[in-house]
Amino acid sequence: MKSKVETFSNVMRSFEHKFDMRLAFTDFLTMTICAFGQKPGTGISYDESLYLETIAKYKNDKVRFEFPKLLSLLTLEMTERMNSTSEGWDILGEFYEMNLASKTLSQFFTPWPICEFMARCNADNALQNSDSDKRIRILDPACGSGRMLMASSRVFGSQHEYYGIDIDQTCAKITSINLFLSGLFHAEVMWGNALNHSDFRGSYFTSIIPFGLFRIQEREKSKLWNILDSTASEYKKPTNDPPESASKKYPDGSQLKFF
Ligand SMILES: C[S@@+](CC[C@H](N)C(=O)[O-])C[C@H]1O[C@@H](n2cnc3c(N)ncnc32)[C@H](O)[C@@H]1O
Repeated sequence: MKSKVETFSNVMRSFEHKFDMRLAFTDFLTMTICAFGQKPGTGISYDESLYLETIAKYKNDKVRFEFPKLLSLLTLEMTERMNSTSEGWDILGEFYEMNLASKTLSQFFTPWPICEFMARCNADNALQNSDSDKRIRILDPACGSGRMLMASSRVFGSQHEYYGIDIDQTCAKITSINLFLSGLFHAEVMWGNALNHSDFRGSYFTSIIPFGLFRIQEREKSKLWNILDSTASEYKKPTNDPPESASKKYPDGSQLKFF
């Protein structure tokens, strides 16, 4: 008899029989971030209490053993798909979009080939206009699952800085795991409203030393929040001229404004 192949998606869906799948999925994301944020040399997470509090819901059920299996399936499937040219490796985003995404927040993610096409269009311009020894900062202010950033990393390279913002905490968590598992170690994903950077609700950043994915709760510790804050202060400086980027005239007389 042919046995059913286990995939991230069908193991995740098996939670549905006993648990709320949205909750189980976000618990998986939370525990994965805790597991990736270990104190060097100890094997203990910086967020150990959050990990224990999260797994406690499943302590009397054998499904708790499915969480490590989910993480191994996720990394295997991502690694396999990283070598494929057309479909990308956003396993988490595909699962989320198909099963849990919010229609009211317009959580429809851009198809991978379009993400790659847009990344290539941006790369020509950005790489030409920057010093080759400087890191470029790439931001998706409504990042969803982060696939625009993942596709950009394939075009720009992993040495650059990748930033995402999403108002939905589940998306911020998905993006941070996606960036970490894509080998992007100069990256941060903010949970908050991109239209108002003071609405900082938390953040996740990747790092090489210490190696891992870590949670930040205070906005002052967030590199992304500091970049947004200094950009906003620059923009607010009193001047008679509008900022260069706020209004641009084109040869045909048309004008593009950024508000
Ligand atoms: C249409 S999806 C696009 C996701 C991604 N950029 C892509 O191309 O696949 C829009 C995302 O923006 C997020 N979003 C909506 N309003 C936002 C806001 N004010 N600040 C940050 N994120 C927001 C939603 O939660 C959703 O994940």
